[in-house]
Amino acid sequence: MADKTIVAFDLYGTLLSTESIAKQLETYIGTKAEAVSALWRRYQLEYTWRLNSMERYEDFSIVTKNALVHALAEHGEQLNDNNITALMEAYDHLSTFPDVKPALIRLSADASIQPVVFSNGSKTMVSNSVLRSQDLSMHASIFQDLITVDEVQRYKPSPASYNHLATQMGKQESQMDQMWLISGNPFDVVGARSVGMQAIWVDRVNKGWQDAVAPELRPSAIVHSLEQVVLVVQGRR
Ligand code: 2OP
Repeated sequence: MADKTIVAFDLYGTLLSTESIAKQLETYIGTKAEAVSALWRRYQLEYTWRLNSMERYEDFSIVTKNALVHALAEHGEQLNDNNITALMEAYDHLSTFPDVKPALIRLSADASIQPVVFSNGSKTMVSNSVLRSQDLSMHASIFQDLITVDEVQRYKPSPASYNHLATQMGKQESQMDQMWLISGNPFDVVGARSVGMQAIWVDRVNKGWQDAVAPELRPSAIVHSLEQVVLVVQGRR
């Protein structure tokens, strides 16, 4: 039988929505929550890129917490330890985007596809997010593995992070184009394309591709719903 097609799903912002955390933040800081939440996500990613550049590593849950403190401070806010802990615990109870359930059901019907989760989160953070999310836990068995970057201590979009995925999936460097990344995060899509992987960008809000960090690196395909992923992968086989 031919090799299964590896389809690696990014977690935060692709399968799981962090919107509920913004709502929780609103109960602490009111109308500033939306701006703080956007800045928090920005710093969370910026910190991972800066750590990569400095060749340093910090667990993603610490990065996430430090980014929150920074985003709050920039808006003149501070939270007590209990509230910060509660926000971090909210990562264990995130909702999925509405297209996730039907997409995973379609995916499970195709035995030639091997779906895995591939995230910046640490092993503990990712398994808690997947197994404790009310929406995602019921589909957790579809994922044949949870691959995280903490074994290589390099965040996406470093080549080391995608090469780690390949190694875990038993693929050689020359076989990168046999793996698919599915992500709602353009920086992740470009990172995967840069090392020769196939990558589908999930453009749920129909924004259109704007990322120009390396203009020649574009998604292999763009979908507006995760449900379209299976058809794209089957069509390119
Ligand atoms: C993830 O790796 C980038 O947050 C995104 O799950």
